[in-house]
Order: sequence, then structure tokens, then C-alpha cells
Amino acid sequence: MKIMSETEIKPINHLDELQAVASDLISELNSGDVIYLTGELGAGKTTFAQYLLSEGGVKEHVKSPTYNLYETYQTASLCYIHMDLYRLTDPEELYFLGIEELVDGHNVLLVEWPEKGLGVMPKPDWLLEFELKNLNRTLTITSKK
Ligand SMILES: Nc1ncnc2c1ncn2[C@@H]1O[C@H](COP(=O)(O)OP(=O)(O)OP(=O)(O)O)[C@@H](O)[C@H]1O
Ligand SMILES: [Mg+2]
Repeated sequence: MKIMSETEIKPINHLDELQAVASDLISELNSGDVIYLTGELGAGKTTFAQYLLSEGGVKEHVKSPTYNLYETYQTASLCYIHMDLYRLTDPEELYFLGIEELVDGHNVLLVEWPEKGLGVMPKPDWLLEFELKNLNRTLTITSKK
């Protein structure tokens, strides 16, 4: 199950399916990639980020960055920045957070609630849309490269 075409819709009703998608995606990522994770509260963005980072070799516990806005995870091969912009009231606040240093062309950015940073956040290389409809969970992956 490789993510080849531009847009793929994956069923993620079971956590092992979510993990399988994370495992596929991690092998497609490059240094500097920006990944948007969208979807309503509780749609599964953080859970997916946890699987993805684990697949990427992060050993420590990945917690939701809701309060700190971002957490950094360094592995042997890549540096990941996991962001949750839910609590931003204005995209300009990202400058106080040091967004210009975080977006350095090397760090892989995983961004929950990217719409809260509209105009300041870089455009995504990957768009991951989490949906929960009639108790049916799907993840739509679009490569913007
Ligand atoms: N594919 C899935 N199948 C079953 N349960 C899931 C799935 N994805 C997430 N969950 C469960 O839903 C709950 C909320 O998930 P999560 O915290 O990942 O949501 P979120 O999109 O990050 O929400 P927020 O917008 O609040 O950050 C968790 O308890 C998680 O275990
Ligand atoms: Mg979350």
C-alpha cells in the first residue's frame, strides 16, 4: 500500500489502519516537508502524528502540543516540529514563537489547525484531512509537490 497518486482516501476506522498509513507516509517524507493535519476536534490528528513520529524513529512520548504550540523531536535523520495552532488568536503570534527559525527548509513540520496560521505558515507539501462521518473515519492524503 504505497501512497503514489496525488490524492488517496484511506479508511482509518481501526488504529492499525492509521498506523499503516503513517508507516507508508514516513517513507515518502523529505527534509523540509510541511504537513498540514486538518479536521475537527478529536478527528485523530495528534494520534496520527504520534504514529508518524514513532515510525520516524522518535522514541519519546509525543504529547499534544496544544499548550506549548510546538514540540521538537530530533532523530538521527530528521528534525520534526509538531505544532498545534488551535490556541492562536492571530497568525502574527507565530513571529513571537520564532516561526522563521522553525521553518528553515530542513525541519519537517507537522501542523494541526494550520488554518489558524493562515498567511504566516508556509504552504503545505502534504495535506492530511481527517474526517469522521456517520461513525466512519477517513484520511484523505494529498501530495502538493
Ligand atoms: N482512527 C481512529 N480510530 C479510533 N479512535 C481514534 C482514531 N483516531 C483518533 N482516535 C481517538 O480519538 C481521540 C481524539 O484523537 P486526537 O487527540 O488524535 O484528535 P485531534 O484531531 O488531535 O484533536 P484536537 O483537534 O483536539 O487536537 C483519541 O482518544 C484517539 O485515541
Ligand atoms: Mg490534536
